[in-house]
Amino acid sequence: MTTPQHSAVTQPPPVVDGTPAIRFAGVHKNYLAHGESVAAVKRTDLAIAQGEFFSLLGPSGCGKTTTMRMIAGFEEPTAGKVYLDGKDVTGVAPNKRDINMVFQSYALFPHLNTYQNVAFGLERKKVAKDEIKRRVGEILEIVSLTGMEKRAPREMSGGQQQRVALARALVNRPRALLLDEPLGALDLKLRQQMQVELKRIQREVGITFVYVTHDQGEALTMSDRIAVMNAGVIEQLGTPREIYERPATRFVAGFIGTSNIVEGRCQRAENGLALLSYTQQDRVVVPCGSAVRAGDKIEVSVRPEKIDLHRGVPPVSATGGSVLSGIVNEVVYHGTSTNYTVATAAGADFTVFDQNASNADDLADRGDRVYLTWAPQHSYLIGV
Ligand SMILES: Nc1ncnc2c1ncn2[C@@H]1O[C@H](COP(=O)(O)OP(=O)(O)O)[C@@H](O)[C@H]1O
Ligand SMILES: [Mg+2]
Repeated sequence: MTTPQHSAVTQPPPVVDGTPAIRFAGVHKNYLAHGESVAAVKRTDLAIAQGEFFSLLGPSGCGKTTTMRMIAGFEEPTAGKVYLDGKDVTGVAPNKRDINMVFQSYALFPHLNTYQNVAFGLERKKVAKDEIKRRVGEILEIVSLTGMEKRAPREMSGGQQQRVALARALVNRPRALLLDEPLGALDLKLRQQMQVELKRIQREVGITFVYVTHDQGEALTMSDRIAVMNAGVIEQLGTPREIYERPATRFVAGFIGTSNIVEGRCQRAENGLALLSYTQQDRVVVPCGSAVRAGDKIEVSVRPEKIDLHRGVPPVSATGGSVLSGIVNEVVYHGTSTNYTVATAAGADFTVFDQNASNADDLADRGDRVYLTWAPQHSYLIGV
């Protein structure tokens, strides 16, 4: 036979000419809790593409699980519609949606071995024995469990059990796989390995993954796109790079990585740059398009690794953008970088990550007077 390797599983679900795999139109969800109505997800529009690795990222209680449960059909929206491959499935039962879910608790059958756990769903569907054997073998290879067919769950590590759960879900070739904080129970090292593995597996099977996490590093590592949720609302949706480099709101700026934020009234806005000025020399410059006028109150953010720290007065070449003087409050050595906390003339404490080059002594000590500089394009407005 000339069947290509992994053929059965790598065939993605039929793509309906760019139709999103999953779409929310005005989806709203209220729960009744102790007689009070709680809005868990607020009027959300969302489109997840076929074959995308899509993450829902946000703090506990922001509505991630509720969103997943509405995709799977375990919850119905209070208002709005859910579409799968362009078809309205609002009100359709979970087992008619062709969606599978993987949880943090693997929920494997303890008395069944790996093969039996993975084959279970296909056997119930009365798939032919030969085909079951082929598909289970194929998917076990993809999740790197070949040779573990006879093991019971209790004879395997947490990471291996998670792979069995994943294989069991994928072997059904669902339209989409929903993963709700699946790595939460694993220790850091194993979690990081599984992040890379999950991404590889998703690429190989070509199935749409919707991944829920409260861990920003995890979302940045694995996702094609991320929706950052806060209190039932998607505050920003974009690629990991867009979300990290250009957080759209104060919440996103604070939740993803470390951000320095200053606020003030714009003194001047010209040539697409807005100026916040604190003293003769201390100033922050930010690209603003036509969004800002003199007198407007603005918030400006800059990432810690974009800032240069100078012990003396900075060279003229470094002063075309933002310049803030300050006093070093804290120096923390992190191996690959040194992190400084600096009380600045803008009134805000700044964090600066200075990459440790081979010959570098620490640039500054506690109590030192320093100057922070960064180029105009590294500043961005938030909440505009
Ligand atoms: N079955 C429920 N009944 C009442 N309130 C709920 C129920 N499930 C979730 N909630 C509330 O809805 C909000 C969102 O919850 P959830 O979707 O579980 O958030 P996340 O998964 O992001 O932690 C929270 O305020 C939570 O308390
Ligand atoms: Mg949850």
